[in-house]
Amino acid sequence: MMRTRPLKVALLGCGVVGSEVARIMTTQSKDLAARIGAPVELAGVAVRRAGRVREGIAPELITTDAAALVAREDIDVVVEVIGGIEPARTLITTAFEHGASVVTANKALLAEDGSTLHEAAEKHGVDLYYEAAVAAAIPLVRPLRESLAGDTVNRVLGIVNGTTNFILDRMDSTGAGYAEALDEATALGYAEADPTADVEGFDAAAKAAILAGIAFHTRVRLDDVHREGITEVTAADIASARRMGCTVKLLAICERAADGRSVTARVHPAMIPLTHPLASVREAYNAVFVEAEAAGRLMFYGPGAGGSPTASAVLGDLVAACRNKLSGSRGPGESAYAQLPVSPMGEVVTRYHISLDVADKPGVLAQCATVFAEHGVSIDTVRQQGKDGEASLVVVTHRAPDAALSATVEALRNLDTVRGVASIMRVEGE
Ligand code: HSE
Repeated sequence: MMRTRPLKVALLGCGVVGSEVARIMTTQSKDLAARIGAPVELAGVAVRRAGRVREGIAPELITTDAAALVAREDIDVVVEVIGGIEPARTLITTAFEHGASVVTANKALLAEDGSTLHEAAEKHGVDLYYEAAVAAAIPLVRPLRESLAGDTVNRVLGIVNGTTNFILDRMDSTGAGYAEALDEATALGYAEADPTADVEGFDAAAKAAILAGIAFHTRVRLDDVHREGITEVTAADIASARRMGCTVKLLAICERAADGRSVTARVHPAMIPLTHPLASVREAYNAVFVEAEAAGRLMFYGPGAGGSPTASAVLGDLVAACRNKLSGSRGPGESAYAQLPVSPMGEVVTRYHISLDVADKPGVLAQCATVFAEHGVSIDTVRQQGKDGEASLVVVTHRAPDAALSATVEALRNLDTVRGVASIMRVEGE
């Protein structure tokens, strides 16, 4: 039976995502009502600046007073797509206090202070949904929170930032340098005027924190995630990767330690073999591998950004939150019972590609190899190319702890025969 009294939705933010959410709510209202079991009505839209005509939204719904909107007792669900820490956090917690469930796309807030939001939702018996916070339309949060809730996830590995994937893809396919590829990404609208959050890895690190938290039933915050961006990746790194049959991707990697007693979360550029499925993720697409004990390896792929894909995820959550409101039930809350410690980057074990500029004279190769041996880092391959008394030495190691590799590089820098360390990159996905 369809309930005739509509569920009321407050929308915070009417930019690229918010306007698309409003458009779908209006154009698909009949289908949404049928799927939910009651009509769903846009009851107010909070914007920063009033006065602009917003197509498809009745002017009387627009307000600049977001605080008053979320405090209305008749609101059933608040959709937050303004982003940032404040005022979003206060608005969301106020919505909970007034009995509304919340759907948010706010990765920065969830990674910084997700526990405050989860605790407030729990206290007031309402829902917090956030599928859109990680990789937009790609279902990841719900599969991890619900479909895999009976399994043990050991690893989440993926490309979760479209802007940086576009830049690295261009560098790989055209031979362009970082600055040139960034300019192209900006011209095409992939990179924002200030690209810091994407290119320095903050956006991907926030997503890694959220994914690791859900996957390992542990609170993981942005500060727990080791982060390196792509600004130092050079055309020479990409060419070097090609020579090894690899490409370079900005990866988010969340892993449970082999003994199961701790986890790590990191974001950094890495070489992956061209045969790895993530190597074929081109342009601004995202893809994430989840490795679980019973399920095995799962791959999720699709558009990880943009107004429509993000709105798709928001609408899915909105339907879930509305259904719960009608049935008087709640969706899954925070699951952080495992409370596993998050280990520092130094304890991560992986392989490395190191490119050194050295003097081309007898004994240099042996001297460098000794430094690796002294730090317990085993060499897999070495390639040397000499020219005019100088040589480029490219070493690929076997798996070693990150701290041992850092100490090795420090010692190599101190050798008189090493003119410089041209690049260090981790090798993943083998
Ligand atoms: N700026 C992000 C990206 C999308 O490029 O993937 C929002 O997280």
